[in-house]
Amino acid sequence: MAGGTRVDVLGAGIVGLTVAEELGRRGHDVVVVDPRPAGGASYAAAGMLSPAAEVWHGEEEVLRLGLASLARWPELAARLGVALRATGTLLVGHDAGDLQQVERQVALLHRHGHAAELLGRAGVRSAEPSLARAAGGALLPAEASVDPRAVCRALLQRVVLRETPRPDAEVRVVATGSSLPEPWTGLVSGVRGEILRLRSDDPPRRTVRGWVGGEAVYLVPRGDDRVVLGATSEAHAAPPVVTAGGALRLLAAARTLWPALDRAELVEATARDRPATVDGLPLVGPSGVAGVVLAAGHYRHGVLLAPLTAQLVADHLATGAVEAAVDPRRFAGAVPEGAAR
Ligand code: GLY
Repeated sequence: MAGGTRVDVLGAGIVGLTVAEELGRRGHDVVVVDPRPAGGASYAAAGMLSPAAEVWHGEEEVLRLGLASLARWPELAARLGVALRATGTLLVGHDAGDLQQVERQVALLHRHGHAAELLGRAGVRSAEPSLARAAGGALLPAEASVDPRAVCRALLQRVVLRETPRPDAEVRVVATGSSLPEPWTGLVSGVRGEILRLRSDDPPRRTVRGWVGGEAVYLVPRGDDRVVLGATSEAHAAPPVVTAGGALRLLAAARTLWPALDRAELVEATARDRPATVDGLPLVGPSGVAGVVLAAGHYRHGVLLAPLTAQLVADHLATGAVEAAVDPRRFAGAVPEGAAR
């Protein structure tokens, strides 16, 4: 499909906006449709660009896709004029059992040929001197972070927004996160994430992802006094709200790792649904309905995978190319059979 196609992107989260910006750059006539732009999962997201720290057993494609997308982030951030903090991730195990979690993560990465350096107590402490005593950890120096709210603000300045779709759009890109229209509704479900924002006089230098008595927690510094502390993870059907129990678990685990949080100002508590597919990978490509392309279901990886998703959607419109790992048609029977685009 040549440039100049009328494309409506449904959903002004970080994925929809990044797709729209890329399609605009490739000469398409693009509008983004969302009555509440940048108000969904992107509003909650911490913005870790962490393909190695975020890959779990059984979701190994996240590493390959995430590394490919991470490589695109510096150019996107520079184009948008937003800061990209390329300070790496420190994995931390609080006790001996938690350290086994770090070691499992490093072993998984090594199996996939990805470098990750295990650190003892002293190494962890020298990487982040304000950490509490920990059993050990690992450094992932190539990882980074962005502020998704700043990214969305910059993208919103570069796209045309509407509240309703255009009747004459030639292509619709569905990027509505966890709320997909029929017939794709059942492909994505919400996994609640509760996340806190704080101001600290002693923030970490880099993203710290730790396990404390089996509880996973991460601290993402913005480079000033702001720190994002996340995140709970719970599948549920009710609207996402911040629960006292969720906030308590996050604060208790984070404070054990990072005692300076005792003095931090608690600025904000947010809950949103992550859009989860059953295999943890997004739906990017042909929907099975002519003229409708999916770019949704990014689960924990929407910020990381946004630039790759934008490229995949734009390439699909140009040539019909599809990345097999994220092809929505892998859910045979759930995607209607029909024209690819
Ligand atoms: N990517 C971090 C989270 O989903 O909590």
